[in-house]
Amino acid sequence: MDKKKELLKKDKKYVSPSYTRPYPLVVNSGNNMYVYDVNGKEYLDFTAGIATCSTGHCHKSVVQAIKDQSEKLIHMSGTDFYYESQILLAEKLNEILSKRWPVYKWPGKLKHSRLGSKTVWKSYFCNSGAEAIEAAIKLARYHTERPLMIAFQGAFHGRTMGALSLTASKTVQKSKFSPLLPQVFHFPYKLESIYEIESAFKSYIPPREVAAIFVEPIQGEGGYVVPTYEFHQRLYELTRKYGILYVVDEIQTGMGRTGKMFGIEHFGVKPDIVCMAKGIASGMPLGVMSAPSYIMNWKPGSHASTFGGNPISCAAAIATIDLLENELIENSKKMGEYLRDKLKGLAGEFSSIRRVRGKGLMVAITVHSIELRDKIIQKAYENGILLLGCGEDSIRFCPPLTVKSWQIDTMISVLRDIVFRSW
Ligand SMILES: Cc1ncc(COP(=O)(O)O)c(C=O)c1O
Repeated sequence: MDKKKELLKKDKKYVSPSYTRPYPLVVNSGNNMYVYDVNGKEYLDFTAGIATCSTGHCHKSVVQAIKDQSEKLIHMSGTDFYYESQILLAEKLNEILSKRWPVYKWPGKLKHSRLGSKTVWKSYFCNSGAEAIEAAIKLARYHTERPLMIAFQGAFHGRTMGALSLTASKTVQKSKFSPLLPQVFHFPYKLESIYEIESAFKSYIPPREVAAIFVEPIQGEGGYVVPTYEFHQRLYELTRKYGILYVVDEIQTGMGRTGKMFGIEHFGVKPDIVCMAKGIASGMPLGVMSAPSYIMNWKPGSHASTFGGNPISCAAAIATIDLLENELIENSKKMGEYLRDKLKGLAGEFSSIRRVRGKGLMVAITVHSIELRDKIIQKAYENGILLLGCGEDSIRFCPPLTVKSWQIDTMISVLRDIVFRSW
């Protein structure tokens, strides 16, 4: 039996069946845009380990940072001790966030009200996207002393019980896990919902009891749905009117994925809480929840995690951010445009592609049916291209931000010549 078959057999026997693997890829190693399976077969990776290996697989600067840090200190727990890489990362995140949102305007009538004051952003460190969302739920309640939350249909915010209460992407993710957090209200992810929320505020949701609205700048798992500029603008106005925190889930859209450091920058609003994970540390486990210092006003002991903000993950994040700022965000913007153009060309040739959408290197196409989508992904895999689905009938393209135009050309020609033409 070959190595891959042997491992797949053991996986079936010993690993939780809750994971959803679209094809039997057993990865052995990775190098920038490529991964290699245990039998040595090469694949061009347009998934980046679900939009996470932002700097490509095993970028040498990130690997070096991991090596250097792991020779010095692997763990000490930021819950009880201080260490350099976590502090330096928090300082860097403040630089990034306060450069974008330097003056904080808070017109709410809360006791912590500050109008036009200078902001220092503080960061809470954890291990994953879901944990960053959990932290934001807790901080929003703690700071506002309000219980209710609003989120959107199609949203994916993670699978731990708090985050899952906000998630509304696929019923299989929620089925048999109730009761979840009570009084989380979901609305469709579109401009018309602003009127619905306003009307709900008059009938069944007391707006001054809403702690936060959680929103993805662009919906990820829900189908790479890009809302209108006005959607975020109007939603933001509502939050200012009622003193509700605007929490942006930048777990997938953040760290350069959309051609800007944060997805919400495309929509001109100033978030109150920013959640990050995935691309921030090039694949090392790290989640971050950042907020202006007077919002992050919880007391010692109110929230923490043993492994959160591990020294190695923080060192990897610092190296990652350096690469993002130096060239990769720019490449994401440029290659994103190139990728969308090429996919639009393909859509012109094959009527089974209905739509191309996205920003930066967060791009998706919609096809006619779920069956067709799954077949395309399968056939691409058999021909050395890694893709993933999202939403009901979409295929997403979220390669490492290092991708080059000729690698996009290679992927497109496999889709054209081998995948689409053969139908
Ligand atoms: C927008 C968004 N939020 C939250 C999460 C959850 O992150 P994690 O899987 O690291 O818990 C994801 C993961 O796909 C995501 O895309």
